[in-house]
Amino acid sequence: MSEKQPDLQGDIPENGKKTWLEQIGLSAKTPIGLFGIGFTTVCFTLTVLGLLGHITGLIENPYAAIVTFVVFPAGAILGLLFIPASIYFRRKKWFRENINKGNILIDFGKKTHRKAVVLFLVLSVVNIAVFSLVIYEAYHFTESDFFCGAICHTVMDPEYTAYQRSPHAKVGCVSCHIGSGAEWYVKAKLSGLRQVKAVIDGSYSTPIPAPVEHLRPAQDTCEECHWPEKFHGKKIKQFVRYSNDDQLNPEIQDISLHIGGRNPLTDSFEGIHWHVSNNVKVEYESLDEKRTSIGRIKVTKPSGVTEEYSLDGATGEGAGGKWRTMDCIDCHNRPTHVYDELEERVDFGLQSKKLNPEIEGIREDSFKVLQKEYASREEAKEQIVATLLALQAERHGADFVAKNEQTLISSGAYLLDTYMDNVWPVMKVTWGTYKGHNGHQYESEGYGCFRCHDDEHQTAFGKTISQSCDLCHDEP
Ligand code: HEC
Ligand code: HEC
Ligand code: HEC
Ligand code: HEC
Ligand code: HEC
Repeated sequence: MSEKQPDLQGDIPENGKKTWLEQIGLSAKTPIGLFGIGFTTVCFTLTVLGLLGHITGLIENPYAAIVTFVVFPAGAILGLLFIPASIYFRRKKWFRENINKGNILIDFGKKTHRKAVVLFLVLSVVNIAVFSLVIYEAYHFTESDFFCGAICHTVMDPEYTAYQRSPHAKVGCVSCHIGSGAEWYVKAKLSGLRQVKAVIDGSYSTPIPAPVEHLRPAQDTCEECHWPEKFHGKKIKQFVRYSNDDQLNPEIQDISLHIGGRNPLTDSFEGIHWHVSNNVKVEYESLDEKRTSIGRIKVTKPSGVTEEYSLDGATGEGAGGKWRTMDCIDCHNRPTHVYDELEERVDFGLQSKKLNPEIEGIREDSFKVLQKEYASREEAKEQIVATLLALQAERHGADFVAKNEQTLISSGAYLLDTYMDNVWPVMKVTWGTYKGHNGHQYESEGYGCFRCHDDEHQTAFGKTISQSCDLCHDEP
């Protein structure tokens, strides 16, 4: 702790005798000691200035934050370490030269010594205060969405972009990916370090795999803000679909989803959120990494009664798959990184007239434009509008395109926006890379409710998990 002492040098009058303080001070006059003091002072000052900049909001650049919170403080600590090292070597030398030990003890009877000790304590308090502030600010910085989403820019760009236009755009990454508590914080930072390494040496997977294996149980994250007791009633959703043959008159499908909740008549939980309500526990055995193929399903009801479903109706340990307790993520796997369905976006374009539905063949051409492979997002920016014009020219001739240039260009601009929201060639993220489980639109690829609700998984008594349409929704 004596490392701050040499800073006091200037305060001590020269009196010919070698006081304890001077001797310590002398040690700082070795080259290592001098370097340590200088280096610490510079880094420490920069840390304080950086910290002030961040606290007052003058500095907003996140890369500057790394320098302020990591580089400068590390420099200051390194510099401090040089000082005791230099003192140590100096003292060793003095002992070898048999200097009177009385001279190198602290003597509270001497005023200079008292002053020095007080100054040392004051400086230490300042030091500790500044470093605590640095740690506190650094902690907040590593929790910020910016740190998560933008530092590893290329890698996280798809997730960050989708997140920014989702209903959770104001919910921090950490609320879902880490949650509260020191244990998860440490786990997350360790896995974060591995990820940083993967980004540096380029060993990360493209696309980043889902499901996320180590995602914390949803009770600790989602349920901080949403809880099953709260869900109730029905939710009406409208689906508007066009076809290539009819770009003007959509087929409109209204469904009323049985969100569920407590039924006041029976006092029991029912509906879609039944799976996660009132101490019901639904466990399932997934037979593949993506959890798209389900072996057995075990249901434990609040009364303690259990039921087991399997494809052959037998009970037992199952096929050796991985067991998991169903939570929010088993349905809401894309609550915030919501990529669009290709068809939905094209049909929305027609409905909102962002794609001009009067242009014959524009629906079909839009699919071709969006599904074409571009080497990069930059290339897509250059080519998408031109590709649409070319396809239309093929269909109707160059005159038609010249006459409708304005509307085709603005339709092309809508397609470009759509593309930029959903496709990242470098990360191999494209239409349908990340599919949702919340429904049955990707049923043919094993996603969604029909993984269990297939009328095929059954108990020993032949009871199945129903696929009847009105279990989950009816017409409003
Ligand atoms: C509302 C909760 C929530 C928030 C907020 C959130 N995520 Fe996610 N994230 C998820 C879920 C759920 C998954 C998918 C889990 C699964 O399929 O196992 C996921 C998956 C991911 C993946 C894996 C790849 C993928 O798309 O499946 C990455 C990377 C990721 N999130 C990064 C982020 C970043 C960066 C932020 C902040 C900018 C963030 N997340 C904010 C819930 C969230
Ligand atoms: C920090 C609070 C918070 C956390 C944590 C959180 N959410 Fe949300 N969630 C919100 C808010 C706020 C909204 C927007 C409410 C609105 O639009 O009315 C929302 C909306 C939703 C919606 C409705 C989306 C829609 O399209 O209307 C779903 C579904 C949802 N959250 C699921 C989840 C899941 C699953 C998790 C855990 C992975 C989660 N949330 C974690 C705050 C949170
Ligand atoms: C069995 C599948 C399933 C599970 C498990 C599930 N949900 Fe849902 N949830 C749905 C469906 C389906 C909807 C309605 C469709 C939609 O909003 O897109 C929905 C709707 C919601 C909404 C919007 C409600 C509204 O009135 O708009 C929220 C919020 C939500 N869920 C949160 C959660 C949370 C939190 C959990 C975990 C405790 C959870 N869900 C578990 C399937 C599920
Ligand atoms: C892991 C398997 C599994 C998945 C995935 C699953 N369910 Fe279920 N679900 C069950 C089981 C098991 C039951 C209970 C069947 C019974 O007791 O008759 C059930 C029951 C239900 C019920 C009736 C609840 C009641 O008692 O009122 C609804 C509604 C429902 N599920 C909707 C959905 C929806 C919507 C999805 C997809 C978003 C879905 N489920 C996904 C296993 C699953
Ligand atoms: C286990 C629950 C469940 C069952 C059983 C079920 N559905 Fe659905 N269905 C859903 C959910 C959840 C959605 C909402 C998907 C979304 O929000 O995107 C949905 C959406 C739909 C849609 C609109 C989606 C679109 O892309 O057009 C149609 C149509 C539909 N269901 C038809 C049916 C029919 C027909 C049956 C009977 C064979 C059926 N569903 C059985 C849960 C179910």
